[in-house]
Amino acid sequence: MPIIAVSTNKGGVLKTSITTNLAGALCEKHKVLIIDTDNQGNVLVSFGVNPDNVELTLYDVLVDGIDPAKALINVHSNIDVLPANDDMSFLEFDVLSDRENYPDPFRMLEKSMQTLESRYDYILIDSPPNLGLVQGNVLSYADSVLVPFQPEGYSMRSLIKILNAIQNFKEKHNPKLNILGVVATLVDQRTTLHSEVLQQCRRYCLENDIRMFETVIPRSVRFAASVAYERKPATLTDSKNPLVQAYFDLLKEIEE
Ligand SMILES: Nc1ncnc2c1ncn2[C@@H]1O[C@H](COP(=O)(O)OP(=O)(O)OP(=O)(O)O)[C@@H](O)[C@H]1O
Ligand SMILES: [Mg+2]
Repeated sequence: MPIIAVSTNKGGVLKTSITTNLAGALCEKHKVLIIDTDNQGNVLVSFGVNPDNVELTLYDVLVDGIDPAKALINVHSNIDVLPANDDMSFLEFDVLSDRENYPDPFRMLEKSMQTLESRYDYILIDSPPNLGLVQGNVLSYADSVLVPFQPEGYSMRSLIKILNAIQNFKEKHNPKLNILGVVATLVDQRTTLHSEVLQQCRRYCLENDIRMFETVIPRSVRFAASVAYERKPATLTDSKNPLVQAYFDLLKEIEE
């Protein structure tokens, strides 16, 4: 059962969109769990559910040891969400100020998931846009990590940093962690800057033995707005938009 985290320290680069759209593409054939670890709670939002109205979240699972099965929300056939909301923003403070009760702060997620994971074919983890205690738990539990990359003027520098940080984390905390690959997001192929940065990125990945997916996720502001209105990920709508195809293509590459 693959456990795939979508992680990077950048905000707004489609972590949540990739997580939820991959779930939408997988659920026809597979039973999928999405773990939301971000206090913004955007996974539930993507399925039209208000995260502030849920009673139990990942926070209660990690901090109070409640059974994760009790917190699950079924959002579509074959897709369950272990939700997060603003409570998650207290996690770091609560855990790091009480090391007696939380002796192994990076392994809390892994420990809590043991009873639940066998129910699913895929576990996808959405993560917050920073590298703190939450991300540490995500990267300790996942077996592979997908890194979204938005090509901009200075973005190669930060991509290299985050890839190195993940590599170091792997060596210290989770030897089984595999960098599944880099996926370019919010790409406008007509922009020269974008194609130049993408080329740089492909070269860097090739030289460093890191996979970069052929599929890129195009920028489509209009479509993103229309999907927000649908209250479900684009891959669960019957849209023929190239953006939807891109997510199916990405999944195909991941499954190769
Ligand atoms: N293909 C697209 N083109 C343009 N905008 C998009 C596209 N897909 C999603 N968006 C919009 O971009 C914004 C950021 O996307 P998303 O929430 O997936 O990023 P994120 O990396 O999870 O952000 P955060 O770091 O805040 O969690 C959202 O408002 C979303 O609706
Ligand atoms: Mg997000």
